[in-house]
Amino acid sequence: MNGKPVTLLTGAGSGIGRGFALAMAGLGSRVIVTDIDLASAESVAAEVTAAGGLAQARQFDVADGQAARSLVDELIDGYGRIDHLFANAGVLGPTALWEITPKDWDAVLGVNIKGAAIICQLVAAQMKEQRRGRIIVTASYNGVRVDKHVIPYRVSKAGLLMFSKCLSQVMAPYGVTVNAICPGVTLTPLQQTYAQALADQRGISLDNYLDERRSRIPMGELTTTADLNALARFLVSDEARLITGQSIAVDGGVMASS
Ligand SMILES: NC(=O)c1ccc[n+]([C@@H]2O[C@H](COP(=O)([O-])OP(=O)(O)OC[C@H]3O[C@@H](n4cnc5c(N)ncnc54)[C@H](O)[C@@H]3O)[C@@H](O)[C@H]2O)c1
Repeated sequence: MNGKPVTLLTGAGSGIGRGFALAMAGLGSRVIVTDIDLASAESVAAEVTAAGGLAQARQFDVADGQAARSLVDELIDGYGRIDHLFANAGVLGPTALWEITPKDWDAVLGVNIKGAAIICQLVAAQMKEQRRGRIIVTASYNGVRVDKHVIPYRVSKAGLLMFSKCLSQVMAPYGVTVNAICPGVTLTPLQQTYAQALADQRGISLDNYLDERRSRIPMGELTTTADLNALARFLVSDEARLITGQSIAVDGGVMASS
């Protein structure tokens, strides 16, 4: 049991983070499922346990730097190490430029960049001591692609991509890799909300809107959490030991076409 890797995940109570938690537990990791919403973290931890894995649920708001410090200290006290970090929590914020308030900027940048950076920095300090570890941030093709919708979100993901590349340089001498997974359109609650808002704006059904989205994806398919999990499993494997500072899209060609 003590030999099992320890995987910390943020925003893992839903969607893509839930998928990563189940995938990492499937590889034999002890997964620490955190989310701002404790009930959803507990539900994912229960799924992991029901599938025979080891999981703990924790309420954790990534925008709370003090809570980040306490969480990391607690994990180091309890396990002595953290092998993998998935800095995955993200929020979308308003769609149209005219709806954005100063508070929205704080909320989106506070979670998507500052929150991700703080937990990465704290875990990186431990990985530096261990001289081993894998950090994966969940970024987005929206961090590269220019458009008129969800501008704070795009700015935040662009910043997160830069942060992860810079962190990869700091951590390289310690054998720790840092990479960004850029999901394509993945039908999670976050994506459903966005898609529904744009469908409503155009007065079309969600299905029609999604058909149209698919037609703009070079490979014509939405991304699934299974597609993302395959990359995550590879990035934590020994085979990926020299892959660092990369942003890898699993999006059917969207980011490449940006
Ligand atoms: N779904 C997509 O199409 C898509 C595409 C590209 C990137 N992403 C990114 O993937 C990541 C996961 O998104 P998802 O689609 O699974 O969304 P989701 O809404 O299904 O899940 C996000 C989870 O993050 C949690 N969360 C929100 N704010 C938090 C905070 N302050 N602290 C901790 N947890 C918090 C939510 O409670 C939720 O459980 C995000 O970073 C998102 O930007 C998603």
